Amino acid sequence: MLGQPRQIFVLTGAGVSAESGLGTFRDRGGLWSRFDPMRLATPEAFAADPDLVLDFYNHRRRDARAAEPNAAHRALARAADTLAARGGHLFLCTQNVDDLHERGGSAEVVHMHGELMKARCTACGTVSERREDILRADPCPHCGAAALRPDVVWFGEMPKHLDRIEAALARADLFVAAGTSGSVYPAAGYVGLARARGIPTCELNLDPSDNADAFDAASYGPASETVPAFLAELGL
Ligand code: APR
Repeated sequence: MLGQPRQIFVLTGAGVSAESGLGTFRDRGGLWSRFDPMRLATPEAFAADPDLVLDFYNHRRRDARAAEPNAAHRALARAADTLAARGGHLFLCTQNVDDLHERGGSAEVVHMHGELMKARCTACGTVSERREDILRADPCPHCGAAALRPDVVWFGEMPKHLDRIEAALARADLFVAAGTSGSVYPAAGYVGLARARGIPTCELNLDPSDNADAFDAASYGPASETVPAFLAELGL
């Protein structure tokens, strides 16, 4: 079915970071079963209680810093390098805000939901690297205003890099989704765009996602096993 794809589009979700110890959102015990996203992950929540929201993301940033990439992250990085050496390209689009893909060796990661390790100034818009906690009084490194927020995409906000993502989808000859429940758009709709173009689609997940029926093929199990095995089948 798969032949020798040259332009692979990979969409990842929280499931690829689960074995690194970072919680997913909708599994049993997931983040949204313990915390109310409407109180912690919306612009309105931040306006209402900035300290609560900053603290929530400070904890997630510390957890992400303490986590290590797993075999899924490393296999995707190796596959991208191998494919590039053959004149192809692996476009890695992630919904995750951790930096485990980068720390696993991926040089090009498109974070459509933003990044925990970046802060954005709500006064001047500057985005800066931020591996430490963000406190409300912390000054923007550019304009000095005490107006920093995590540079992550909250519910009700526009995901990032959509044009770049859709351009990559338009030239892909294989679509792979790994570790995502397929429950949040626009990411959940990407498999439909791939199918409409007639390219093969494969889901690599712990169990069938909400949009599992949209995929031509699937492999179920932990990402640290299914992702390396799938890429090895492609000779990557
Ligand atoms: N290996 C592979 N898949 C796993 C593993 C694992 N070890 N553990 C869990 N999964 C799967 C689950 O079966 C589930 O389908 O990962 C998926 C995680 O789904 P969600 O928790 O919904 O995470 P995700 O799909 O990334 O959520 C998308 O929702 O709240 C927003 O911004 C948030 O980016 C997030 C978006």
